[in-house]
Amino acid sequence: MEQYRSIAIDGPAGAGKSTLARRLAQALGYLYVDTGAIYRTVALAALRAGLDPADEAGVVPLLEGLDIQMGYGPDGVQHMCLGQEDVSEAIREHQVSGAASKVSAIPAVRAFLLEYQRGLSCAHDIVMDGRDIGTVVLPQADVKIFLTAAPEARARRRLLELEQKGQPASFASILQDIQERDRQDETRAVAPLKRAEDAVLLDTTRLNLEESLAALLAIVKERIPQ
Ligand code: DC
Repeated sequence: MEQYRSIAIDGPAGAGKSTLARRLAQALGYLYVDTGAIYRTVALAALRAGLDPADEAGVVPLLEGLDIQMGYGPDGVQHMCLGQEDVSEAIREHQVSGAASKVSAIPAVRAFLLEYQRGLSCAHDIVMDGRDIGTVVLPQADVKIFLTAAPEARARRRLLELEQKGQPASFASILQDIQERDRQDETRAVAPLKRAEDAVLLDTTRLNLEESLAALLAIVKERIPQ
């Protein structure tokens, strides 16, 4: 049986995981899987069903009939579909971020998504990013990276991103959101955000995108002979 390579990238919101993981996957010719987008799609479905995303008794029955599909554009960008609808943009809305953090604390939601995520690693070389990839989803990953940056640096990047989209926001409120999401993700009972013991720590506070990518590639090349 063919053995596929896997690279797990975990870290808090806004550390640059998605952009860097996608670029890394492109550079290596691997499939990129943004697991946060999958949690976000579940959260959007819960919101659209009028449910409180923190309400386990309400959310769990929804999982059974959930039609979530993942696909890729020609540019390698991951798209999420809910039923027939491409929800890739809708899941990035502010309200969905908070809801995703809440649904992801429900054990049945995590169990539901676990096998799906593991299945992907059996069929492709992958770069997978999330919160629990190195600790729970792919504990045997060839390379594990814990990507982080100071909360202020993450808030500044997010502010810039929103400004570029023509959606100005306040630095203070973004920072507060980031700190609240860190707290929720780090303190939940199941699969909390934490660095795997064997993960390499990469702090991007003082690195730009290209420098961060070069650092990631160096870590991978040391561990996976090309
Ligand atoms: O990376 P993101 O901001 O798109 O993730 C959205 C939420 O989903 C985040 O608050 C935590 C949760 N999540 C998770 O619990 N486990 C993952 N593997 C990925 C995301």
